[in-house]
Amino acid sequence: MATDVHGSVTDEEEEIGAVGLRKEQRAVRAASGAAVQVDGLVRAFGGRAVLDELQLDIQTGEFVALLGRSGCGKSTLLKVLAGLDRDIEGEVLVPRRKAVAFQAPRLMPWKRVWRNVLLGLPGRPERDTAVRALEEVGLGHRVDAWPKTLSGGEAQRASLARALVREPDLLLLDEPFGALDALTRIKAQQLVAELWQERGCAVLLVTHDVEEALLLADRALVMEDGRIAYETTVDLPRPREISDPGFGALRARLLERLGVAGAQSTAPAHSPADSSTDRAAEAA
Ligand SMILES: Nc1ncnc2c1ncn2[C@@H]1O[C@H](COP(=O)(O)OP(=O)(O)O)[C@@H](O)[C@H]1O
Ligand SMILES: [Mg+2]
Repeated sequence: MATDVHGSVTDEEEEIGAVGLRKEQRAVRAASGAAVQVDGLVRAFGGRAVLDELQLDIQTGEFVALLGRSGCGKSTLLKVLAGLDRDIEGEVLVPRRKAVAFQAPRLMPWKRVWRNVLLGLPGRPERDTAVRALEEVGLGHRVDAWPKTLSGGEAQRASLARALVREPDLLLLDEPFGALDALTRIKAQQLVAELWQERGCAVLLVTHDVEEALLLADRALVMEDGRIAYETTVDLPRPREISDPGFGALRARLLERLGVAGAQSTAPAHSPADSSTDRAAEAA
């Protein structure tokens, strides 16, 4: 893991130290209400820039969905924001308290659910902390279960509880519903919408599902050629309905940007290789 003088992931609430921003500058940034500020971010693998001078701001409490073709760099961006990849150039400001949930719940099979929820938390967190988070995601009855006895939806909710227990100011979700069946996915989406409204944290949700993005997000971004190539505000009343008249126009515009113009309403915005996880396939 290398961090050079141009490349830094900076936790806003921590001392900036040697990474190039003066304290006065930081104060201005903090006052701007941004949870995430990314400027000129470059991440290259073997000389190929997957993220290429990427710019991104996310406001405090804002829900942003990130769309883009498979392999365009969405997960790479998420890992940088999570602080899991610091081999970058450019400037990245993120809140100190952040949490990430991936498509695979990544539970340790040899630890009971509540212990999984507390995994990696600093100090000696109490079991009650895990129980509260599990109750919040509707898993109060599975606190002592072993991960292998959970259904896919339950495991994903446990993973969400593990993220929430960190009380994040920024919640990073990488296709968290991708492996769930259609009905479970709808429930999980509703849960995330409720938790976001209660918690008020900023959320960056990577998804290949345009409808999911429009149901949940304040703003939808499309990534292309290593940058945010397109964005649209989702100015629809909540709770959102797919039948809302404004929904169809936004969906059509996003699908067009994703190169799926003329697709049916439930068309996935990703390659056929991902078809096990799309709504159309499940509905068939
Ligand atoms: N650790 C890595 N080493 C080499 N190439 C990588 C690594 N991580 C990601 N990539 C490449 O970066 C590109 C973007 O990957 P990724 O961010 O996972 O895409 P997405 O999440 O949008 O599907 C892909 O071409 C992938 O092969
Ligand atoms: Mg990915």
